[in-house]
Amino acid sequence: MPTASASPAIGAVALAKRYGTVTALSDLTLRVERGSIFGFLGANGAGKTTAVKMLLGLVRPTSGTAQVLGAPVGDREARRSIGYLPELFRYPEWLSAREVLAFHASLLGASGTQRARDIDRALAAVGLSPRADDRVATYSKGMQQRLGLGVALLGNPTLVVLDEPTSALDPLGRYDVRALLAGLRERGTTVFLNSHLLTEVELVCDRIAIVKSGRVIASGTREDILGEQRGLRIRAQADGASLHAALAPFGHLTEHSGVLVLPDVAHERTPEIVAALVAARARVYAVEPIVQTLEERFIDLASSP
Ligand SMILES: Nc1ncnc2c1ncn2[C@@H]1O[C@H](COP(=O)(O)OP(=O)(O)O)[C@@H](O)[C@H]1O
Ligand SMILES: [Mg+2]
Repeated sequence: MPTASASPAIGAVALAKRYGTVTALSDLTLRVERGSIFGFLGANGAGKTTAVKMLLGLVRPTSGTAQVLGAPVGDREARRSIGYLPELFRYPEWLSAREVLAFHASLLGASGTQRARDIDRALAAVGLSPRADDRVATYSKGMQQRLGLGVALLGNPTLVVLDEPTSALDPLGRYDVRALLAGLRERGTTVFLNSHLLTEVELVCDRIAIVKSGRVIASGTREDILGEQRGLRIRAQADGASLHAALAPFGHLTEHSGVLVLPDVAHERTPEIVAALVAARARVYAVEPIVQTLEERFIDLASSP
């Protein structure tokens, strides 16, 4: 029998949710290791929020099972070790950030001094200390999102579940949140993150699942999902047809406004290609790998039937 700490942070088997005739999520099986950042990625309506709500015990699955922190979903004790940032939240406008945090900290039941320390730490972690006593009404959307993140961090959770944590943030705010998430991971906290922002997920997550219309269509590390990358872009000059002759052995060759492209060649062949160019007495300005981003891969996957 595995102990609670040997269990993964999240383990779900064939989790599914139907609302009438709408299948919000079908057959979600996943495992999130402790101390990792897991990105759940998909377009609006793909089923991300439904997944999170089932994992938190807020929505009852139509079928399937899940365990979170070694306990069945909805377990009250495990719930105390989970921080949650819901997707759509609004705090009362007349409260200050400190008051919002104090309210949530009181729900966690910490003692007075511990609670004050916890609130100060959460404020600092999300960069709201200088505005802690201003009313929520005076906050930008991004600041409200930071406050939500602060609430999720109260009480030093073992697992933090964030539903679209950066959608209202500007690039600098997103950068701060990524740094914050990396800091959490360093301390051994597990992060489960829903997002439709691909670069966010790509930059910070250890593992990723891509969900489309309620189904996981790809999962693994970023490299697993991207698969083997191919293609080189070449800028070089030589006399006459010698460039084309030198590159012909490396497969299909195209040219766009002076840049040569070998779309199918493996990146590992770069040294051979440079050698061939030099042997043809070409002046080589650049030989660069063509790298598909997660966003491009996602669009490929999302648009295939
Ligand atoms: N309470 C509900 N009742 C009926 N349909 C729902 C409900 N919640 C979500 N859905 C539907 O389930 C699908 C997935 O929604 P959701 O999990 O919110 O997606 P995402 O978070 O990826 O945008 C959508 O088609 C949505 O309309
Ligand atoms: Mg959602």
